[in-house]
Amino acid sequence: MRTGVVIIGAGPAGLVLGHLLHRAGIECVVLERHSRARVEQRIRAGVLEHGTVELLTELGVADRLHREGLVHTGVELLFDGVAHRIPLRELTGRAITVYGQHEVVKDLIAQAEFPIRFEQGALRLRSDRAVETAEGVVEGDFVAGCDGFHGVSRPFVEASLRVYEREYPFAWLGVLAATPPSAEELIYALSDEGFALHSMRSPTITRLYLQVAPEERLEEWPDERIWAALQRRLAHDGFSLTEGPILEKGITAMRSFVVAPMRHGRLFLAGDAAHIVPPTGAKGLNLAVHDVKVLADGLRRWYASGDEGGLAAYSDTCLRRVWRVQHFSWWMTSMLHLAPDADPFTRELQRSQLRYVVGSEAAATTLAENYVGLTGSP
Ligand code: DHB
Repeated sequence: MRTGVVIIGAGPAGLVLGHLLHRAGIECVVLERHSRARVEQRIRAGVLEHGTVELLTELGVADRLHREGLVHTGVELLFDGVAHRIPLRELTGRAITVYGQHEVVKDLIAQAEFPIRFEQGALRLRSDRAVETAEGVVEGDFVAGCDGFHGVSRPFVEASLRVYEREYPFAWLGVLAATPPSAEELIYALSDEGFALHSMRSPTITRLYLQVAPEERLEEWPDERIWAALQRRLAHDGFSLTEGPILEKGITAMRSFVVAPMRHGRLFLAGDAAHIVPPTGAKGLNLAVHDVKVLADGLRRWYASGDEGGLAAYSDTCLRRVWRVQHFSWWMTSMLHLAPDADPFTRELQRSQLRYVVGSEAAATTLAENYVGLTGSP
């Protein structure tokens, strides 16, 4: 089989790329290892930057997002037992939308007018233009590796990659609970026991996270222990955490990871295949969407006139934003988590940084403009 662009992976990166290419009249096919049900049910973060919402709206896939998504104009930082609001809209003119990543994926799949082949099993790159599936080889002008951190695209070019990496001495335990959110906004908390986050998915579903040790297992966290830890870490005046049945729970490792370059001949890496951010700030999907927007622009120029310029600049253009977001995610993570080996000096620096962020408009704006998503290319 022949096509224009062979897209590996039906996550947010691959699907948004499919929509962008289809809209530009460029033929493509998405190959996904897993089933449709599986990709639609993968619970991930749920914060969409202003620019991500705009792009999904332009693509015509945001009707449900605008109906069901929760627009948030501020977030709270809780430390030393006191919550402080960062007024995102006041500081930046923009807001974020809380809407689960798997809901975005469902919408992108439901409205795709390009082929998505699920359940492809183990795929193999034959070259930078051809992918081998169980049913035969799919050949294109280009391959887009949108297949995530554990995909097959990055290993294909591993030998020529520069890798930048950092691991953290903690992980997140995330739970989805059938109970109304206990506050209107997200609460990022640093307590003496470590980080906790109060988030939500809808007026009846709360999403919560706890910092745990990376080697801890779910069996060690029965529901009562989770609720007790959340109660302690989120406690502050005027707040009362409502408990409810836990629908889903999981542990996410935390790492920062970047490979460069993101282009190898006609293979382009995008999203988690090329970079991972720690979850604090929920940047993963938003960054993936930025990659494929840059890629689609480059491909459009190439198909329109043979102009290589956009594709030649792909890696550098993406990495510029990748490193800004890496810094932000690392900064939020360091500021809000308790490292097991943190000495008193580190703790005081952390507290001072938090006081500065909520007390200075300049510092609050730094957090806010990164949180809602920077425009331009700082
Ligand atoms: C959520 C996840 C995040 O990593 C974050 O920073 C904020 C919210 C969430 O899943 O709702």
